[in-house]
Amino acid sequence: MTFKKRLPGLVKGAFFGLRLHVIFHPISHLLIWLGNIARLSKWIRQQKNLLINDCYTSKFEYNKRFELYEVVVKDQHLDEAIDYLEFGVAKGASIEWWVNRNKNADTKFYGFDTFTGLPEDWGPFKKGDMSADNAIPDFNDARCEFYQGLFQQTLSGFLAEGRLSNRKKVIHFDADLYTSTWFVLATLYPYLNEGDILFFDEFNCPTHEYLAFDEFCRSFYVKYETLGAVNNFYQVAVKIK
Ligand SMILES: C[S@@+](CC[C@H](N)C(=O)[O-])C[C@H]1O[C@@H](n2cnc3c(N)ncnc32)[C@H](O)[C@@H]1O
Repeated sequence: MTFKKRLPGLVKGAFFGLRLHVIFHPISHLLIWLGNIARLSKWIRQQKNLLINDCYTSKFEYNKRFELYEVVVKDQHLDEAIDYLEFGVAKGASIEWWVNRNKNADTKFYGFDTFTGLPEDWGPFKKGDMSADNAIPDFNDARCEFYQGLFQQTLSGFLAEGRLSNRKKVIHFDADLYTSTWFVLATLYPYLNEGDILFFDEFNCPTHEYLAFDEFCRSFYVKYETLGAVNNFYQVAVKIK
């Protein structure tokens, strides 16, 4: 056996026998982060012919996400009847943009959130941050419905109700966390159709939304086309193929 083939076994033996985790475990998050930022950076450079792409920019402007929504709405005709699902609503800033932009009477808006904040720490943010203090947004629009609780507790029940139609789905991932994003992607997989559009609000976080999406695509052999990105791929739109 060549040294290259023996190497993984030797490294495993060194870890298990010599307890190398004592050295490496404290820096394991950094190593994973570096590995993923390298993969993400390469992926970003492979994305071509987007409708909008400001990479590289030194200026972060959160409101640019509305420019991204607008170009994708126009290009993909998202002002027609759609099912819009948003995971991570908080006080409703992004879903409100969609409710105002799409006035089609047959469109439905479904928002999911604990409304009591993040269920776990996320970078510098702590569990409970981003809380809407239990206040569910009210846009005085009968097309909107909100589901309060962890996605892990509300989404299956929602899907079992059979509320989703055959309309094009726009799914907005704004939960920030790897766990939340991966759970929703995997749970919605059987309901995804060609042409459905996914938006991500914190895509360029290498161990959260990016990682969840990358693992999802690899696990379910999902093909997609990237439509646009702003703020150095912080906000991204993709279309399922
Ligand atoms: C960044 S905020 C959403 C911001 C909002 N879309 C906006 O534009 O203002 C993230 C939200 O995700 C929610 N969230 C994250 N993981 C969740 C989970 N597993 N279940 C329910 N809500 C979750 C948090 O409660 C928080 O309100």
